[in-house]
Amino acid sequence: MDLTGTTALVTGANRGIGRAITEALAAAPLSVVLAGVRDPEAFEPIKPPPGGAGEVRAVRFDLASRKKIDASCDELGDQLGEIDLLVNNAGLMTGGLLEEQEMADVYAMFQVNLVAVAHLTSRVLPGMLKRGRGKIVNNASISGYAYFPSASTYAASKAGVVALSESLRRELHGTGVTVLHLVTPGVKTDMLKATEEVYGRHIDTSKWDKIEPEAWAAKVLAAIERDAHVLGPGGKTSLAKLASRGPAALLDGISRQMFSRTPRT
Ligand SMILES: NC(=O)c1ccc[n+]([C@@H]2O[C@H](COP(=O)([O-])OP(=O)(O)OC[C@H]3O[C@@H](n4cnc5c(N)ncnc54)[C@H](OP(=O)(O)O)[C@@H]3O)[C@@H](O)[C@H]2O)c1
Repeated sequence: MDLTGTTALVTGANRGIGRAITEALAAAPLSVVLAGVRDPEAFEPIKPPPGGAGEVRAVRFDLASRKKIDASCDELGDQLGEIDLLVNNAGLMTGGLLEEQEMADVYAMFQVNLVAVAHLTSRVLPGMLKRGRGKIVNNASISGYAYFPSASTYAASKAGVVALSESLRRELHGTGVTVLHLVTPGVKTDMLKATEEVYGRHIDTSKWDKIEPEAWAAKVLAAIERDAHVLGPGGKTSLAKLASRGPAALLDGISRQMFSRTPRT
């Protein structure tokens, strides 16, 4: 995709991976980068460098319910139909033994990680289809492929994102609108820190690959520009993606080595 003169919307743009992707887009020759955040007043402004985007503007995007998503879309008005690139990035993490997980957190997580991706995409697609061009980028995870214990609900949401992305990609064939899903590895953000704490009770997380948000964002931008339909995690994590497509015994073996139902500490 040629980003010149385009309009992008990134959800969860205030911190972590979303912030890094927004900064990377700000350095490219887009017309407008809409930084979707829950609180636009609290958004730390991004000034595009020379040769970069025309403007980076914070817009309210709360994905916590059907009503809030529709309200956020309506608030954007006509600009919703002008989005060429939608990056569904915002997300929540749940983990631990299933019977110990807080069900309110699980419902909230499925809403933001999966239902919101379908809903927001359905609101943005008509404009893209009308213009015969556009790209949807969905932030999945290695958990969308490799289903390890302690990650049951989160992995289910991300497997859903992978399925949604691939089904939609085929549905949109020939329309000029394309879909890319990100098999995101460990990226050093607040979520990764929380994940290590929550999963770490039962899983040895010490050998996980961890990369900087800026390094991942640079790969995401390159994948957008070369029209890839999937961005693999790279590093050691790519072996987990590969193993997930082999016999279940492969991941069963790894799982037995690193997981304990009894808390590790
Ligand atoms: N970090 C990793 O290792 C990793 C690995 C694989 C996949 N991922 C995926 O990458 C994406 C970004 O993760 P991250 O690591 O950057 O996480 P993060 O630092 O925790 O940031 C999460 C972002 O999602 C936003 N968000 C949460 N609930 C929202 C809601 N109801 N409405 C709108 N925005 C909401 C947050 O906004 P507030 O600041 O307002 O809370 C924040 O901007 C997620 O989809 C995550 O599952 C991350």
